[in-house]
Amino acid sequence: MIEDINWNKMWMESMKNASWRKRRGDNTEFWNKRARRYNESLKDNERPGKSISKLDIDPSHTVLDIGAGPGTLTIPLAKKVKHVTVVEPSSGMLTCLRENAINEGLNNITCINKKWEDAVPGEDLGEYDVVIASYSLAMLDIKKALLKMHKVARHSVCLFTFVGDNMWDYTELWPVLYNETYKSGPDYIYIYNILYQIGIMADVEISITEHKQRFSNIDEAVDQWKENLNISTPEAEEIIRSYLSANLIREDGSLWSKINMKVASICWRKENEIK
Ligand SMILES: C[S@@+](CC[C@H](N)C(=O)[O-])C[C@H]1O[C@@H](n2cnc3c(N)ncnc32)[C@H](O)[C@@H]1O
Repeated sequence: MIEDINWNKMWMESMKNASWRKRRGDNTEFWNKRARRYNESLKDNERPGKSISKLDIDPSHTVLDIGAGPGTLTIPLAKKVKHVTVVEPSSGMLTCLRENAINEGLNNITCINKKWEDAVPGEDLGEYDVVIASYSLAMLDIKKALLKMHKVARHSVCLFTFVGDNMWDYTELWPVLYNETYKSGPDYIYIYNILYQIGIMADVEISITEHKQRFSNIDEAVDQWKENLNISTPEAEEIIRSYLSANLIREDGSLWSKINMKVASICWRKENEIK
């Protein structure tokens, strides 16, 4: 029976076995190191605007952005709503976010430097009109994480995440470097089913979005891939270099990585009564 499937347990197993998780080490440290580059790469992407267009927001609203990174959605949202609260464990990401807020003259953002799992309703958290999490669902107990999002939301919750096996170019390079198939971890379908089982019938929209990254030269790209793949031997560097030389696109005096990602928005309104 469909009700007997334990989607949360399957999420945990898939998450524990995800290749990136096994090789990455501490996730917060990983994002601390990557914050600057991640922040830079967002300038060339249309994703933030596309995601924000899916939200049901108005100028009087307060928003909670979980795993906000450098403020990918926080910064444009803070220009449209009354206040944005951020829960973000990476101090490197928060440094970028605060700089971005200052550059944009924004003073309606509050940051909580914690993992979502550690943020306590009534202590760290209040209630927010709209709750969002964008490509930040790295929690092991996702059911508990989703229930907490529902609890602190006044009107709606909207999540953005991956669909299927889609993690940059690691799927191709991983087997060559590590002699094992790349496992990308759980995707939107687990979330949809967990929500369904707790009585939340979410709206799901699947679309394709292009993720672009610009590099000034091949060495910069190789350094980033080495860091992302957590490998630094000379042999691995050679494999990565030849892969990138064949796959990066030369345009406007820069080198570009352009990847079409299949993504989902999963949104629901608070009136869903949970079981
Ligand atoms: C891929 S980035 C996404 C950033 C931004 N939301 C976006 O859409 O570009 C993932 C972010 O999730 C954060 N994150 C990872 N695990 C988290 C957790 N357990 N609770 C809250 N945030 C988390 C990371 O620190 C990182 O900043």
